[in-house]
Amino acid sequence: MSARSGTKRFAFVRQEPSGGREVLEVAVAEVLDPQYGMYVWPCAVVLAQYIWFYRRAVIGKTVLEIGAGASLPGIVAAKCRAKVILSDCSELQNCLDNCRRSCKINNLVDVPVIGISWGLISPHLLLLPKVDIILGSDVFYQPEDFEAVLTTVFYLMQKNPNAVFWTTYQERSADWSIEALLHKWNLKCIHIPLKTFNANKEHLAGSSLPGNHTIHMMLISLKNKLLP
Ligand SMILES: C[S@@+](CC[C@H](N)C(=O)[O-])C[C@H]1O[C@@H](n2cnc3c(N)ncnc32)[C@H](O)[C@@H]1O
Repeated sequence: MSARSGTKRFAFVRQEPSGGREVLEVAVAEVLDPQYGMYVWPCAVVLAQYIWFYRRAVIGKTVLEIGAGASLPGIVAAKCRAKVILSDCSELQNCLDNCRRSCKINNLVDVPVIGISWGLISPHLLLLPKVDIILGSDVFYQPEDFEAVLTTVFYLMQKNPNAVFWTTYQERSADWSIEALLHKWNLKCIHIPLKTFNANKEHLAGSSLPGNHTIHMMLISLKNKLLP
């Protein structure tokens, strides 16, 4: 790695009522670069905390992270024994390289990293196995991309109607909403209060993220499916 590259460390802790304590330590790659996918965003640590809190639900599941960037949620899912595939925009080679660096740092040699651009039906997307859980941290950050993100999610749900999109959203403008698009694509969404998975804090997993940003955790599925 160059002098502009580094790693960010996180420690996810679960204190069991029995007095036991489980800890997961991961590190992800960060690079000083103007591109969004080279940093860990506040949403990522909240989504990673959700995965850690419900880690038993991901064991053996096929999990695809879209717009993964530094890939903290996907790395946590892989460490929690999910079969993870990481993806970022197929045109952003340095973001895809950042995903690969995060895998290497965590000794995850079997995690594929592929280019999936939102809204495009590419060979990589067509060749994917059935995905059970789609992860997306801070992928709703440019309104012009919102529909493209949801069309990719919808495509994956056509292959597996039971798939659920676990996503975190950072509030940047009160005017932005995905509600009409969810309706258009026959999708529904439930909000998960942060306190239900111990994420209602400014510091999480030993880091100063998410800070004072307003983050929402949402589960999106096809309208006619029962969410857990
Ligand atoms: C705000 S960053 C979030 C990165 C990471 N998920 C996180 O939360 O730390 C948005 C991510 O979406 C990726 N991205 C942007 N446009 C994309 C597109 N059209 N298709 C797929 N990924 C895209 C970026 O490369 C970047 O990794």
